Amino acid sequence: MKKVRWGILGTGNIAHKFASDLRLVDNAELVAVGSRSLETAEKFADELGITISFGSYEELAKSAEVDIIYIATPNNLHHPNTLLCLNNGKAVLCEKPFAMNENQALEMISSARGKNLFLMDALWTKFLPHYQKMIDIVKSGILGDIKAVLANFGFRANAEPNSRLLNPELGGGSLMDIGIYNIFTTLDILGIPDEIKVSTNTTDQGIDEQCAIIFEYNNGAMANLFSTISADLGTEVEISGTLGRLKMTAPFYDSNSVLELYVDGKKTIIETEKEEGLGYQYEARHATNCLLNGLTESPVVTHSDTVLLMQTLERIRNLAGIVFPMEQDSNLGRKA
Ligand SMILES: NC(=O)c1ccc[n+]([C@@H]2O[C@H](COP(=O)([O-])OP(=O)(O)OC[C@H]3O[C@@H](n4cnc5c(N)ncnc54)[C@H](OP(=O)(O)O)[C@@H]3O)[C@@H](O)[C@H]2O)c1
Repeated sequence: MKKVRWGILGTGNIAHKFASDLRLVDNAELVAVGSRSLETAEKFADELGITISFGSYEELAKSAEVDIIYIATPNNLHHPNTLLCLNNGKAVLCEKPFAMNENQALEMISSARGKNLFLMDALWTKFLPHYQKMIDIVKSGILGDIKAVLANFGFRANAEPNSRLLNPELGGGSLMDIGIYNIFTTLDILGIPDEIKVSTNTTDQGIDEQCAIIFEYNNGAMANLFSTISADLGTEVEISGTLGRLKMTAPFYDSNSVLELYVDGKKTIIETEKEEGLGYQYEARHATNCLLNGLTESPVVTHSDTVLLMQTLERIRNLAGIVFPMEQDSNLGRKA
């Protein structure tokens, strides 16, 4: 069978992890890497057994040897880097957050659709077997009507002041980096919230260090979502309904997370399929299969899922007053 030829744009932390897991995907071949510096690209290529190294993102985007490019740069660059690849005829898997705001996301999606190219938001945890099982259990009705979702994601960053995580120029902060997992998980379980409440604390550099969000629903359901880059938390998700409770154990993004189901006073541990690797192979396999089947949009992370997530992030940011330097001229992040 034909192999899908992958390129990676950016050579940081997540690029290494993704490249390593891509080796677990049949019908996928990692052929090229692009970096701002040729030396860095060559070092990455040596480590991961990649044949072609480029000292610029443009050269990677233009390469005739590549079918799809994984964007692994800081948040503020997802929009220009994705457009660069699409404009050069490449399919794209773009790291989260897909864009800094809804307008950017719409432009990226419109570009891909206009060119008939595959484009997907890399919400990798949605492809983990235990996450999919969690959705099946919620939909089965065994928990009854869902009344509460509690989702926490926190770690102590200890990052350099100019690091991607702490730097507003690079789209840093807990909300865009890790709070986003709590949000899309809750959107999958409860849907669009009718009301949102938010409280954040902000660093001297101007990013949210901690972000507490409440989603309220007209049917009485509520969700409590907390993200922090200044404290370790048990990063887990708990879903409670009128008939039972389900927990994705910490860390819930890890493929070793298990599901604990509590119904009728009985606890059942639900194990799901485990593979070697860090868990990025599931989304990579899905994107590879989408390309092999001629799809331009994933049926699991649809373009409307991406737009809804970006809209929800904007609702939260408007309430919290989170505005990034590149958006100073827009109405975004203005306190409601
Ligand atoms: N899915 C996940 O589990 C997960 C986990 C962590 C991060 N992420 C996402 O992946 C993206 C990258 O995160 P990361 O942790 O890999 O970041 P990172 O280690 O800082 O790497 C980012 C890479 O982007 C390139 N880059 C281009 N312009 C840059 C700039 N001005 N400053 C710093 N780097 C720049 C660099 O590659 P070159 O020098 O080669 O050009 C750098 O190695 C972020 O959007 C983040 O939200 C996802």
